[in-house]
Amino acid sequence: MSKVTVVGAGAVGATCANVLAINEIANEVVLLDIKEGFAEGKVLDMFQTSALLDFDTKLTGTTGDYAQTANSDVVIITSGIPRKPGMTREELIGVNAGIVKNVAENILKYSPKAFIVVVSNPMDTMTYLALKATGLPKNQVFGMGGALDSSRFRCYLSKALNANMNEVEGMVIGGHGDTTMIPLTRMANLKGIPASSLLSAEELEKVSADTMVGGATLTKLLGTSAWYAPGAAAAAVAESIIRDQKKIIPSCVMLEGEYGQNDICIGVPVVIGKNGVEKIIELELNDAEKAAFAKSADAVRATNDVLKEINIL
Ligand code: LAC
Repeated sequence: MSKVTVVGAGAVGATCANVLAINEIANEVVLLDIKEGFAEGKVLDMFQTSALLDFDTKLTGTTGDYAQTANSDVVIITSGIPRKPGMTREELIGVNAGIVKNVAENILKYSPKAFIVVVSNPMDTMTYLALKATGLPKNQVFGMGGALDSSRFRCYLSKALNANMNEVEGMVIGGHGDTTMIPLTRMANLKGIPASSLLSAEELEKVSADTMVGGATLTKLLGTSAWYAPGAAAAAVAESIIRDQKKIIPSCVMLEGEYGQNDICIGVPVVIGKNGVEKIIELELNDAEKAAFAKSADAVRATNDVLKEINIL
């Protein structure tokens, strides 16, 4: 039996709950929002697709009643405001920090053993905040950003290679920001064949640049931030925990010496299984990649510092 709570019934949270339900990843999905009746409505709509799509995941919607989330195995935090065109994820910190802290504390009360997956932006800083606010071990609280960014990377790679997406591998590490993410083009490959031997340096550079603004491109097109890929990425992370898949998923985790960093949550490849973050994989980065990672960490740290300035931590 598995129970997943998704906090925030906005587009990302509702999509995540929907993917979890349709694919029967969890036996029970609870969707919680503070807007009266909103989560209940989204869940009722999903329930009415169950006969059509042939799934029987138990669905519960609630307006702020955390008792309903009790004993969740996984909790996905999507609460907060999304960005508008032209905004960076970092600009959301003032509003979202208070919301995420409050949500994390409420979750802790009812599901102290749950794995907490943070989606809210600025994601790296919100993960750091959730980890500090709950005091939970670092395998239990981590952020979803790398799963999404890596999925976008693989999409752009498969297009450039004109290849089957499922045969294309690629990872994005670093912060989940337009200028902080690091698509690892050197390690990207098609069925083990280095992408660098199949694409020109310019083509690979374009794939990388498109990946980095993957979210911003959608914000411009949609007038708000994306939801299908973010929701599905969060569901994929939950699935790797619940089904103990031990997938290697770049995720935002607390580093304690790895990659030369300390006291920061930032994206690196990790093994995700029934114990949450089971292992941090230390890649052998070249000098340019090391420098990019250090720069990315500096930027994430600067955003983390705002938490102290606004007296949240
Ligand atoms: C994105 C937001 C969800 O990248 O961070 O689409």
